[in-house]
Formats: sequence, structure tokens, C-alpha cells
Amino acid sequence: MAILEILKYPSPVLRKKAEKVTEFDEKLRRLISDMADTMYDAPGVGLAAPQIAVSQQVVVIDISPKDEENELIVLINPEIITEEGRQVDEEGCLSVVDLTAKVKRFARIKVKACDLEGNCFEFEAEEWFARVIQHEIDHLNGILFIDRLSTLKRALYKKKRKKQLQQEKQDAGKK
Ligand code: NI
Repeated sequence: MAILEILKYPSPVLRKKAEKVTEFDEKLRRLISDMADTMYDAPGVGLAAPQIAVSQQVVVIDISPKDEENELIVLINPEIITEEGRQVDEEGCLSVVDLTAKVKRFARIKVKACDLEGNCFEFEAEEWFARVIQHEIDHLNGILFIDRLSTLKRALYKKKRKKQLQQEKQDAGKK
């Protein structure tokens, strides 16, 4: 069990395109287990490997209700193969502190991915589940949900975040 540090915007690793997984080995199993621990601890409904500084196409998701048993979904090298409809809803991200905003996403998607043994499969997702998958796949492409907001909203957030980091630096200097 390992809870890892979640990188926050503007960490450059969050902007890198993640590499495809080619080795389905013990190392991958350990990565997934650490990612799940980190996601549940946060707590969050999804986590992509670049968020813990591993630039690989690995995503963990669990959208099961809090009072029900965990249902971990692991997606390796995930790809959206079809998309349709529109949905707009509030989104946040463990790497984007202190911000939630309405984001436009596809309503229904078909996804191709592999499991941790390297067996690939396809499935359909809609609504909230489809939203989380699109958000996490964005992470694998170096995209954050703030990139999907208006230029003004994004600029405001960048400014706020810059101030916050300066403040943190100052506070650390005082100690
Ligand atoms: Ni996120």
C-alpha cells in the first residue's frame, strides 16, 4: 500500500502525452495498486498515471456510491472510438486545486482499453461514467479540464493559482 503525491497544476508532467503501456508485468500491477490507494485516499473518482508523475497510459476509476463496496475500473491504453451527444456538468480535478466548473463533454462514448493482463476489450459508457472517462483520457493527452473552459475563466484560474503559489512560497520562507 502506497499513497503517492498527486501533482498539481502547473506541474509540467501533467502536460506531457503519456506513453502506451507495452509491458503487462509486476511493475504495472504495483503502479495500479498505488494509483488505487492514492485515489481512494484523496478521495477521488478517477486518477491518471501522469498525476502521480508516471507518464504512462494508465487510468483508475471508481464511481460506485460511497456507501457501497468499491468497484475499481482499470483502463490501460484507453481510446475513445465513438462519441455522440452532449452533456454539461460540474467537474473538478485532484490536480487542479480549488476549482470546479461546468464542462461540456460527449454524452455517450464507446471505449477500447486493456486490462492489467493485457486483454483488450470494448465497452459503452454514458452520463457521469462517460464524463469521468473523458476527463481521465484527457490527462493522458496532457489536457486538463481548465483547457476546456472559456479563455477568461482559464486566465482567472491561472492568476489565482499563481497568487496561491506565491503565498505558499512566502509562508514557507517565514518558517
Ligand atoms: Ni483530473
